[in-house]
Amino acid sequence: MSKNFNWEQLGFDYIKTDLRYVSVWKDGKWDEGKLVEDNYLKVSEASTGLHYGQQCFEGLKAYRNKEGNIQLFRPDENAKRMQRSCQQILMPEVPTEKFIDACVQVVKANEEYVPPYGTGATLYLRPFMFGTGHTVGVKPAPEYIFCVFCLPVGAYFKGGMTPVNFVTTKYDRAAPYGTGAAKVGGNYAASLFAHKEAVEAGYADCIYLDAATHTKIEEVGAANFFGITKDNVFVTPKSPSILPGITKKSLLYLAEHYLNLKTEERDVMIDGLDEFKETGACGTAAVITPIGAISHNGKKHVFHSETEVGPITKELYDTLVGIQLGDLVGPEGWVYNI
Ligand code: PLP
Ligand code: COI
Repeated sequence: MSKNFNWEQLGFDYIKTDLRYVSVWKDGKWDEGKLVEDNYLKVSEASTGLHYGQQCFEGLKAYRNKEGNIQLFRPDENAKRMQRSCQQILMPEVPTEKFIDACVQVVKANEEYVPPYGTGATLYLRPFMFGTGHTVGVKPAPEYIFCVFCLPVGAYFKGGMTPVNFVTTKYDRAAPYGTGAAKVGGNYAASLFAHKEAVEAGYADCIYLDAATHTKIEEVGAANFFGITKDNVFVTPKSPSILPGITKKSLLYLAEHYLNLKTEERDVMIDGLDEFKETGACGTAAVITPIGAISHNGKKHVFHSETEVGPITKELYDTLVGIQLGDLVGPEGWVYNI
């Protein structure tokens, strides 16, 4: 049973739920991990996670299906991505089984916060990990904390399935040989200023171009970009500095196998937007958010419509969300029943 909340009105804001999972890595191994009530962490003032950004995080959701049961969407993919993030910044990995077990424990312990089916809201899970212990030199920490907390959320971008507009930024979030493909906090700190400028100028968020040439689309705020060409090819950018999104990976598969579209992962030129009839942002928080228009160098490029979602974007959304909510049968292994 879900609590009594105004589920339809939820945005993407912190809500304290009952229990969260905490596990500590010390002397070369992880402890058992436990659920705790306290939503504050007590750590050394000399934690690398506080000074040197030795930190990473994940985002995934729990969905209540029509029968009232709860399911996760591809949690093994989040576990694997977190392991890659850990490798990049020299943190010990959380084994996939431990990662999924932590998520399951947190969902079960906060079951009343999983929104009812049909409200549009879901339970967002935030696994994260950072270096602790006493270290003041720039080197990996001697200890680590891995946590998972959760909160019910609604739409990340205000429009939901109504298109929103974006603007390109002159700032970079990640460099070609940097940490863009890892889900580390530093990338997000680097995005705050660009995000603020875009929002103050009246846009939902900014679009990052490739740092080397500023000619190719990389990401849409904290989401991946996709476009549907005028001859129905699903295109999404390929670059070593974008986050390999699980939603994007899933849409590539669904576009090809469920919608019978051709798919391409390749460069997307910011001066070539004419090739697309529809575009969108995709991610766990963003789900699929249609892009109404992109402004670049003072010129505005409108896609399908600024007020209505295009038909292919809608079909992709219905297919993805249908699987996430258990209304459609997804590919083997995508849904993890709790
Ligand atoms: N790109 C960035 C920068 C993100 O923060 C996210 C969100 O996780 C994504 C893309 C989409 O990834 P996913 O679909 O795995 O949520
Ligand atoms: C997600 O979609 O899970 C994200 O991490 C995006 C954002 C809230 C940082």
